[in-house]
Amino acid sequence: MSKKPQRQEGDPKTTGHIWDGIEEFDNPMPRWWLWTFYACIIWGVAYTVAYPAWPLVSRATQGVLGYSTRAEVAGDIAAVDAANAAITARLASMPLEEIAQDPALDSFAISAGAAVFRTWCAQCHGAGAAGAKGYPNLLDDDWLWGGDIDAIHTTIAHGIRNEEDDDARYSQMPAFGELLEEQEIAQVVNYVMTLSGAAADDPALVGAGQTVFEDNCASCHGEKGLGDRTQGAPNLADAIWLFGGDAKTLTHTVTNSRFGVMPSWQNRLTEAEMRAVASYVHQLGGGE
Ligand code: HEC
Ligand code: HEC
Repeated sequence: MSKKPQRQEGDPKTTGHIWDGIEEFDNPMPRWWLWTFYACIIWGVAYTVAYPAWPLVSRATQGVLGYSTRAEVAGDIAAVDAANAAITARLASMPLEEIAQDPALDSFAISAGAAVFRTWCAQCHGAGAAGAKGYPNLLDDDWLWGGDIDAIHTTIAHGIRNEEDDDARYSQMPAFGELLEEQEIAQVVNYVMTLSGAAADDPALVGAGQTVFEDNCASCHGEKGLGDRTQGAPNLADAIWLFGGDAKTLTHTVTNSRFGVMPSWQNRLTEAEMRAVASYVHQLGGGE
């Protein structure tokens, strides 16, 4: 039971609330604090009316000022595009081989191309374009389909072995598991290892492997295994491997074949963007 305490003259004001003899002082908030608090509420309500704020089902309230971060970004992009319109138009129309001869245009193309590469190509070819198993290194001068600017542009525009573009580069190595005996595959694998100067796993098979190679592989990879760009058939004699040059990987490649696919870009990128990224790839080191 609580008992009302005796109050004396000069005691602080209380709210009159008492719990077990403990009283609650009546100390109001300072005026300045209270006004700041009210001002914040008013400002907050006004803000949500003026600017996009409350989430609705499909989008937020738009605000009476019509401001949108998206429109602001679009505006910035449009301003940059407008500033670059002339040089972009020149990039899109100039003969491909002449781009590299115009230093201003070339450096614009390369920096624009680096941005396109980071967005669209790095997932497969690697951020530094060094590639990965099955995804060719674009830094070296070993080209499957060709390393001059025209060939690179064609590869980018139409892609490789995709189904979306009728002009995609196309070729298919047969799966020799269905065509050759296991022994013949072992022979040709050992022969292929020696083409690039590596030691064969089983040197006794190399001689017979050469015959298997001439009969089955030379039509695409060439008599000496130097490859054929018209068919995207890799050079097998340069110790640069798209999939791998050890006996196990080679046996897998020859038995099952490979089917590297690259998308077509002509419907996703503008002509200027494709030329920019072609210029970027061309100058990376291996361009011809
Ligand atoms: C989905 C993965 C993928 C993406 C994305 C991709 N590529 Fe490729 N690219 C490949 C594959 C796989 C090959 C090799 C195909 C083959 O085996 O012939 C290739 C081959 C190439 C080649 C031919 C290399 C040569 O030696 O001839 C070039 C050039 C190339 N890509 C550039 C690009 C550019 C530029 C982009 C971005 C616009 C890009 N690629 C995006 C998968 C991709
Ligand atoms: C019809 C043409 C064709 C024939 C015939 C052919 N190849 Fe290929 N070969 C290719 C193509 C095209 C590729 C690239 C596949 C890809 O990138 O997806 C390839 C890839 C390879 C690779 C992978 C190279 C690497 O860098 O990883 C090896 C190894 C290979 N072939 C060996 C052979 C051998 C051995 C034979 C004969 C038994 C043979 N090929 C017959 C077209 C052919």
